[in-house]
Amino acid sequence: MNARMVSRNASWSSLKTVRRTAGSLSKRLLSVRPSKLPAGHRACPETRTSRRSQGDLTNFVRRSGTDHPHRLPSTAPRTERTDMTAGSQITVLGLGDMGSAIARTFVARGFRTTVWNRTTARTEPLVEVGATAAPTAAEAVAASPLVVVCLLDGTAVDQVLASVASAVAGKTLVNVTSGSPAQARANERWAREHGAEYIDGKIMGDPPYVGTDHIMFPFSGSPTAYETHEPTLRTLGGIAYHGEDPGAAAVEFMAQVAFSYELLIGFLHVLKLVRSEGFDVAAFTERAAGSLAVFPSLLNSMAQAVKSGEYGPDLGSLDVQAALMNDMIGHRAAQGVEAVRMREIKDLMDRRIAAGHGDQGFSSLFELLPPQA
Ligand SMILES: NC(=O)c1ccc[n+]([C@@H]2O[C@H](COP(=O)([O-])OP(=O)(O)OC[C@H]3O[C@@H](n4cnc5c(N)ncnc54)[C@H](OP(=O)(O)O)[C@@H]3O)[C@@H](O)[C@H]2O)c1
Repeated sequence: MNARMVSRNASWSSLKTVRRTAGSLSKRLLSVRPSKLPAGHRACPETRTSRRSQGDLTNFVRRSGTDHPHRLPSTAPRTERTDMTAGSQITVLGLGDMGSAIARTFVARGFRTTVWNRTTARTEPLVEVGATAAPTAAEAVAASPLVVVCLLDGTAVDQVLASVASAVAGKTLVNVTSGSPAQARANERWAREHGAEYIDGKIMGDPPYVGTDHIMFPFSGSPTAYETHEPTLRTLGGIAYHGEDPGAAAVEFMAQVAFSYELLIGFLHVLKLVRSEGFDVAAFTERAAGSLAVFPSLLNSMAQAVKSGEYGPDLGSLDVQAALMNDMIGHRAAQGVEAVRMREIKDLMDRRIAAGHGDQGFSSLFELLPPQA
């Protein structure tokens, strides 16, 4: 069977799977409603209302099963497991919605938890459930071997780390603040220069899901520190190790979130199109959602084509698809619906066809996306 046939068969068998799997897919999506959460998490109302959109988006990624956990390399140096039982000491810096949920989870699981927050009043609910509030970030760091940092952004992390520079030697910092791969690598350098181990983490899920299987934390950085502290990190929810490069977790996070946004803005434009024709967007979406079951095998087959550079006619040949694109653009223009992405696709198809690759499929457009080798 040649590459083309494999590609065609992957798409066709995916299509046949749609009807069979649509029911179980919707069951899976429903199964993660907050009502299914353990009682301890339902009793955390302050974490349930804000920043839903970010969490919901990352939960979508998690629930879609698109995370690709990497295991520790078998060559990773092994260290004594000194950590990781209830009763261990842990510090949480930052008690916003997410930091509070993290600290609350550690307290609930029996960790002796020290907390610090810039605005002191936010420590009070944690103290009420058993945490110890430290008056300064440096004193909070001094209290525990493992320090979880959960602040608004990289600027806040820089400011707080600067204030704890004299206290971090010998500690492991686990920074779960959102940020870029470059920030994670800079934080790791800073930690190393100050005698600390560094693990970078990102959060794919909402605060109420902390401590459940419905939130995902990709981690990267020091393999020895990760191995030592893995049982404690597992307390937070689903976890995955993406390698020694401290920026790897951020790469995963950025790519997963971007994947969702790229998909969802297209979905909103499609809803505009459906409504512009006078049709019901909810009924359309019900049908369209059933097609999502096609995507795992289609995406995997596209990734294989990109990886190998062997492009079969996935979704059909470009010669045929380019003609369809003209219809898509024309329809949108007639309805006054924005068509910038369709025009981009058509432009890429035309260029690929002009270069003699009209028999290849959609995946082959990858060759024209910047940066080009
Ligand atoms: N909430 C979510 O749904 C969610 C989901 C996934 C990932 N995340 C990520 O988790 C991290 C924390 O989010 P969050 O929801 O907890 O945010 P938040 O509720 O807005 O809390 C922000 C925290 O950062 C602190 N902070 C901000 N600037 C600071 C500074 N210059 N110095 C010291 N502390 C500072 C705040 O302290 P004060 O109390 O003094 O203002 C507060 O503790 C973010 O990186 C976010 O992207 C959040």
